[in-house]
Order: sequence, then structure tokens, then C-alpha cells
Amino acid sequence: PTPRPYAVPLPVPAVKKPLRSDATTDYYEIVQRVADAEILPGLTTPILGYDGTFPGPTLVSRSGRRTVVRHRNTLPVPTVVHLHGGHTPPEHDGYPIDLLLPVGGWNPGAAHRSGHGGQDMSPMASMPGDVRKGVRDYAYPFHQRAATLWYHDHRMDFTGAQVYRGLAGFHLVHDDEEQALPLPSGERDVPLMICDRSFEENGAFRYPALDRELRSTPGVTSAYMEGVVGDVILVNGAPWPVLEVAAARYRFRILNASNARRYRLALDPGPGEGAPFVQIGGDGGLLEHPVDQDAIVAAPAERFDVVVDFSAYRPGTLVTMVNQLGSGPTARVMRFRVTHRVRDDSAIPSRLSRIEKHDPARAVRTREWRFAKGDVHGERGWTINGRPFDPRRMDARPRLGDIEIWRFQADLHHPVHVHLDPFQVVRRGNRGPGQYDAGWKDTVDLRPTEYVDVAVRFTDYRGPYLLHCHNLEHEDMAMMAAFATT
Ligand code: C2O
Ligand code: CU
Repeated sequence: PTPRPYAVPLPVPAVKKPLRSDATTDYYEIVQRVADAEILPGLTTPILGYDGTFPGPTLVSRSGRRTVVRHRNTLPVPTVVHLHGGHTPPEHDGYPIDLLLPVGGWNPGAAHRSGHGGQDMSPMASMPGDVRKGVRDYAYPFHQRAATLWYHDHRMDFTGAQVYRGLAGFHLVHDDEEQALPLPSGERDVPLMICDRSFEENGAFRYPALDRELRSTPGVTSAYMEGVVGDVILVNGAPWPVLEVAAARYRFRILNASNARRYRLALDPGPGEGAPFVQIGGDGGLLEHPVDQDAIVAAPAERFDVVVDFSAYRPGTLVTMVNQLGSGPTARVMRFRVTHRVRDDSAIPSRLSRIEKHDPARAVRTREWRFAKGDVHGERGWTINGRPFDPRRMDARPRLGDIEIWRFQADLHHPVHVHLDPFQVVRRGNRGPGQYDAGWKDTVDLRPTEYVDVAVRFTDYRGPYLLHCHNLEHEDMAMMAAFATT
């Protein structure tokens, strides 16, 4: 079932209102539930949804104000909520075995002896973390700058399947520095969650999980070892949508929420003069200075805040966002229809923010992390430094406050993500940072055989955290490592 492109208006996820607020904190409640979505016109797609929607509701927080999100799990499977990009204490970071069990209880049944890590990998049986039943409060201090964050499922071994079925949403953080800038805002500040999906004839998501019930056997069928890609491109949960825009500047917060697909996003036609995209931010908020980009290359989990100036187009123009790494249906993403001219007071200042540099010369050590295919408990899987993920093993103990160089080395494409604090890209191989590496990053796009050095400094919280490949099938097939900040 392939819908007509550019027929569905772009949905914008609703901004969630707090249940209550006090002097320091805003309190929210999200119910994780099964729901029927209409993604392909006329068909029903069962989803796992935050508040029963896909994407989930957008949360908006203020830097320096605490946010508490109470999650209630009414799904048939355990979940774990991770705030991606959050500077979060360990007990609230969504460690993959800190399960939130369904309200009605949960029994994983017998572990199957097949698939990746097929021996008793049931997290419940062999390695209970901080497990709760039904309800869990995730508290976020938000001692961090304005940025486009997102929240998504992080259940050990099943993240790919559960995010694919709908467990992902935006969480935006604002601060005074950003708000003082004349950037496009309000209706002209639009989050774009881009992801690909495949569908069955009846409209259900098609995900090749080995264990359809998502009980105990991780991984996907061998044809999808490299990651699951789909043939329908969704933006904010709608297939190839269309957005009417005034002939004015818009800020788009682009998030690649795909399990495994990379994109090279461009505009067709281009604006004629000037760059189609002015990048103003990345994973960790505003850049120091705007960067003109002809295209945006986004690996899974990366965010790019860009400004597009539609006043360069004549009213009536149809502008298509294309994906130059796709073909056929995956070569297009969405369309903008330029309506009328309006007064536009927005501007892109040449100085956006101040970014304190992590001086690599001050690094106290270099650690190497090799991302490669490997043996996972006797099965083919994905490893870091030759080892599969074990939530009980800490592979590094960085000290709070130290600058360290982390060298990521890849066999194939791996989008590498580090929890707790963002990093700065120091070099790609023997060159400097790449075109898309500016500013604070929490996910870096590693290309085949490449190494990337980043400077990282952990602060504030002691505990176990993760680094992993954000190709979610790689992650579920054990390409994850734990470290403890000390
Ligand atoms: Cu977006 Cu550890 O994940
Ligand atoms: Cu990977």
C-alpha cells in the first residue's frame, strides 16, 4: 500500500501541558498505550504510543527548571524511557535493564534458544536492574542549554522493535540566550521527525523481529543484520506530507528518528541564490555561527536545526525536500507549498551562541572504541572492542571533570551516541571535523573504516551510562557498552 505523496498535511505533534507546576518543577504524566493510528490513508496501524500517539507529544522545558515525567505503562511489554541528549542522573537516564513493567504485570515466558545472544538473555531472569511495575517518575534537572532533544524507548534487546512501533517523541529545551535571538519562532519553528517504515497489506508496521511478541529473543532476521529500513518515508508520522509555508524564514528542527537509514536532505528546486539551508544548531543546541549547507546529511539520532528562507521562492512554488541517498519512494521526503508574502521580522544573527572549547591538549587520556561485526554469545552480532553488551560490566571509568579523547573506529556505518554529556569532534581521520560536526554533538556519523576523535568531559552525575551505536538493530544485537563516571 503506497499512498500518494504530498497529499497528507504535515502533522505537528501537540505540545503537552504540565499537570501542575510549582516554584521549581513542572510535572507531566504520559500513558504508554496501544492505539490505532491512521498513517496510510484508509488503513489502520496498531502502534505502541506515548499517550497513544506517534510521534508522542512534544514536551517543552526551560533550562534550569526541573521536569518530572510520570510514565504509566499500559502496553503488553516492558519499556524504558531515555531522554536522548539529556544531562540526566543515572537513575533517570533509562538504563536498559531499569524496566518499567506493564501495569498488569509481565511474564517473559521461557527464553528461546535461538537468535542473537539466544541463551538466557531475558533481562528479568538474569540481570534485574531497578525494575518498577506500572508507573515510574523520570526526573530531569535540565542543567543544560537549549537544544532539540527527543525521548524514546531503550529497553534492552528490544529498542529497535519498540521505537519502530511508535515509542519516540520530541523534548525541546529553551533558554534565555536562545530566546533573545530573532530566529523564526512560534508557527515558524517546526520540528520534523523523519523516519522510514514498511507496512503490511493491512496497514500494520512490518518489522522483522525474531520474537514477534518481544518477550525474550532479541534481534531481527538475518536479512536485516545491517539494520531495518523501510520504503515509506514519514515526517511526524505522516507519509511524504505537505506543509503550506508563507514566503518567510522557517526554523526546522530536523531529527533523523529512523532505526537505520541515513539521509542526504536537499531542496528541489533550490532557492537560486544563497544556500538552501542555514544550519543554526546541532544535537547539543545552537552553533557559534550559522553554517550554509547545500544539503544536510543526517545519521540516525542526529539533529540539525536549520533555517530555510522561502521568500527566495515565488508564491505558488512547490519545493520538495528530497533524500539524495534514497531511490524511488525513499528519494523523497516531504513538500512545501509556498503561499503568500508576509512581513518577516526574523533574522539569523552572525553570532548565535558561545561554545566553550574542550582543548584536546588538556585531555588526560585517549580511549579507543572499535565498532565492528562480531560474535555475540555464539551468534553473529555487533560488538564494541570485540565484546557484546553486558549491563553489569563497566568498560571505562572516566572521572568527572576530566577531558578525555574518545577514538571511535568503525568497520561500516555506525552512528555512535554517548549518554550524559555532549562532545566535540576533534578530527575525522587525519583531517579536522567534518562539515556536519560543528558544535556540541551527542551522536556522530561514523563512515566505513573511518575513525573519529571526540573530546568529551562528563560532569555532575556519577553512575552507569551508555555508549552505543544508534543503528537500533546494531544496538539490539549488542553494539553497546557501559561506562561509569566516578
Ligand atoms: Cu537515543 Cu542510548 O539513545
Ligand atoms: Cu552500528
